[in-house]
Amino acid sequence: MSNALFRTKNIEQSIRDTEEPEHALRKSLSALDLTVFGVGVIIGTGIFVLTGTAAKNTAGPAVSLSFVVAGVVCALAALCYAEFASTVPVAGSAYTFSYASLGEFPAWIIGWDLVLELALGTAVVAVGWSGYIHSLLDNAGWHLPEYLSGRDGASGFGFDILAAALVVVLTAILVVGMKLSARVTTVVVAVKVAVVLVVIVAGAFFIKSSNYDPFIPKQQPVPAGGSLKAPLIQLMFGWAPSDFGVMGIFTAASVVFFAFIGFDVVATAAEETRNPQRDVPRGILGSLIICTTLYVAVAIVVTGMQKYSSLSVDAPLADAFKATGHPWFAGLISFGAAVGLTTVCMILLLGQSRVFFAMSRDGLLPRFFSHTHPRFRTPYRPTILLGAVIAVVAGFTSLSELAELVNIGTLFAFIVVAISVIILRRTRPDLHRAFKTPLVPLVPVLSVLASLWLMLNLPAETWLRFAVWMAIGLVVYFLYSRSHSRLAQGETAPRKATGNTP
Ligand code: ALA
Repeated sequence: MSNALFRTKNIEQSIRDTEEPEHALRKSLSALDLTVFGVGVIIGTGIFVLTGTAAKNTAGPAVSLSFVVAGVVCALAALCYAEFASTVPVAGSAYTFSYASLGEFPAWIIGWDLVLELALGTAVVAVGWSGYIHSLLDNAGWHLPEYLSGRDGASGFGFDILAAALVVVLTAILVVGMKLSARVTTVVVAVKVAVVLVVIVAGAFFIKSSNYDPFIPKQQPVPAGGSLKAPLIQLMFGWAPSDFGVMGIFTAASVVFFAFIGFDVVATAAEETRNPQRDVPRGILGSLIICTTLYVAVAIVVTGMQKYSSLSVDAPLADAFKATGHPWFAGLISFGAAVGLTTVCMILLLGQSRVFFAMSRDGLLPRFFSHTHPRFRTPYRPTILLGAVIAVVAGFTSLSELAELVNIGTLFAFIVVAISVIILRRTRPDLHRAFKTPLVPLVPVLSVLASLWLMLNLPAETWLRFAVWMAIGLVVYFLYSRSHSRLAQGETAPRKATGNTP
């Protein structure tokens, strides 16, 4: 039984299984290309929306420190991701890497977890996008009815029609196989970074120092009955559930962590990089440093423009300019944010359909989903299924609750990846590693501890939801995937003799 749970695809088999042109980055990338790509994937709803929520509800102006904390956690994880990705040079994600190294069951857990992360991440970005479109329409004097805005706090029925529509349109684009060209990506990255710089530079003129007082607001007890909303760590140690204070900085870090998601995508480009050992860490750490600097600067400026308690939770960057009487700037920011968020949403949507597709190709999910479209050659079935589910979720659910669930899933994946780096160094020392994590096992161990710390700062109810999702995953694995797995059936990969390691 344990052998079956930890059966692995061998690495050559994994590479052959995923030899699809759309997974391969054709040109050889430099550190600069990777950095631009990284910034393009990373900057999104996290900075454009969650900054407001986190400052208003949990950290006050100290939310800028929360960005530093989350950035450090990600930098540690990034060093582990880079080794993992460059050792198992197949298109994809932590799912493919772990199937080749840890075994089927851990890979299943990671894959199931990644589908949650990427699918709900898409929904979060779509809701963030809709917030900025609303703000833009607002500027023009148009208002959608409340029941079609689905904003947090809408009384009665609320469905965010714009968020759902964006997901449907992007799903259709992915089904027909349209891709973002390198030029479009560069333009979008430029627009996004320009908008962030406008916020920082123009906003700096409207800072009032009184808004920083207090910088770390005094700890406040959360209203009775809200204990499941308190961070797990507070419940574990029997502390009275509270917001703000020093612990509030960490609570907010566990939320704004969402702003960094996406750098792992850079790690997967390791093999297409000219000099991976040098350029992958430069690309990943470079994009992380740029994003962290921009995020901290934005957080300082925005909390200086408006009292943290008055920040908006839908489009805080644009609304801070409205609040200071500059709707023109607000319009510009909303426009840039909407453009930038569209591509982030598309990349996440693409990622999750590919993980689902890879799992069904391996037989862990029904093979029905592993057929590509006869004409477009895209994995249209999982794309359509997940696109429909995400559109509904994006329409109905509150943004911060979704983001917290995405974060716990991602942090969990970080932990598995960091542990895998240590395991793989022992079990397969022979493998060529284009990039090596420095100071193993110290860096992976620190990465595990740092990720766990942020996880513990997420609300207890997020842990419950995550546990339910994982429990469903276990049921599916033991009732279906274990027996249908291609490895279980002794099937070989196409064009390949069997190569399973026991
Ligand atoms: N990091 C990306 C964002 O903030 C996912 O939208």
